[in-house]
Amino acid sequence: MSKIAPTNDRLLRALRREPVDATPVWLMRQAGRYLPEYRATRARAGSFLAMAKTPELACEVTLQPLARFDLDAAILFSDILTVPDAMGLGLYFVDGEGPKFERPIRSVADVDKLFVPDMAGELRYVMDAVSLIRKELDGRVPLIGFSGSPWTLACYMVEGGGSENYSKVKAMLLNEPAAMHRLLDITTDAVIAYLSAQRAAGAQVLQVFDTWGGVLAPHHYREFSLRYLSRIAQELPRGDGGDRTPLILFGKGNAPYLPELADSGAEALGVDWLISLEDARRCTAGKVALQGNLDPAMLYGSPDSIRNEVLRTLGSYARGGDGTHTGHVFNLGHGLSPDMDPEHVRVLVDAVHEFSAQHMFA
Ligand code: CP3
Repeated sequence: MSKIAPTNDRLLRALRREPVDATPVWLMRQAGRYLPEYRATRARAGSFLAMAKTPELACEVTLQPLARFDLDAAILFSDILTVPDAMGLGLYFVDGEGPKFERPIRSVADVDKLFVPDMAGELRYVMDAVSLIRKELDGRVPLIGFSGSPWTLACYMVEGGGSENYSKVKAMLLNEPAAMHRLLDITTDAVIAYLSAQRAAGAQVLQVFDTWGGVLAPHHYREFSLRYLSRIAQELPRGDGGDRTPLILFGKGNAPYLPELADSGAEALGVDWLISLEDARRCTAGKVALQGNLDPAMLYGSPDSIRNEVLRTLGSYARGGDGTHTGHVFNLGHGLSPDMDPEHVRVLVDAVHEFSAQHMFA
């Protein structure tokens, strides 16, 4: 929404499928526990939630990976579970166990109590963080805002935390489909309001994380995940032409649905490593930009093997289309883990720029 164009606009150009001098790269969970400076800020804040809810600290950790690596984007430091938290579910974290809700959604009566939270009230801290980060970035790279997908948020809301088999949310889907659709509908309204507010506060790219869409059978994926992703892509107001704020739909396990996702109205699709970018590009037929898709575990390999895998990924994307890297945003197929070596992250980021700038993938 700002009038100042970012100095490094590779990401925005790639998402518009315009030529770039080198493939842009950012990494999911680029701020996190693998960085000692993150662990220091977290210790000072006392907890992950205190850090995410204090705009100055959220801003500080957002900028940490950019100070170290030649990344082409910043991503807001926050969490997808801020939205159900603001819907009254009471988010908390147990060390080693991940996120939990004090008041999960277990009945039709619980669904009936859900509401779209006030973006200027309960979620004000997120918008304040976005504005502050934009100011501190001073146009160096674009800022990505994000939300969870309705289905992925529903998984946490109903399970009450992470899950092995999604038994509770799948039981609700089977036994109370109307209530599940009401839950997903209101959550979709909340996601649209949340992303719009982030855009108004200064986010220049928006990503939806559908982390758990891939746990559904195809007919259920289409009915309970894709339908709501499409509604977001259709209804989210994001400007027109060159000023349009690109929307990226990332999904783990979304490979079988890429042709349908390419028709959703989103500008870009994020893909995991279970499909080659060559196949992903072919089956989306130039309708969208693609983001991905190195297996994060490649970072456990040696620097030489990381460079090889980067080259292979760039080549795969090029082969799926006209032989160029136009329309590709380099990323992992999922996030970085706490036990990864920051020096390997550097090797990856630098290799993306080096190989793509020299067209070594051709
Ligand atoms: O990518 C980034 O750098 C931006 C920050 C970001 C976080 N979470 C920070 C975070 C983003 C985009 C998310 C999204 C998120 N959160 C998703 C979707 C993406 C994905 O990874 O699939 C999901 C499913 C969540 C829910 C969640 N929050 C989980 C499963 C966890 C991990 C729990 C753990 O202990 O490992 C969190 C906490 C969380 N969110 C951390 C970070 C850096 C770790 C918190 C810590 O410091 O202990």
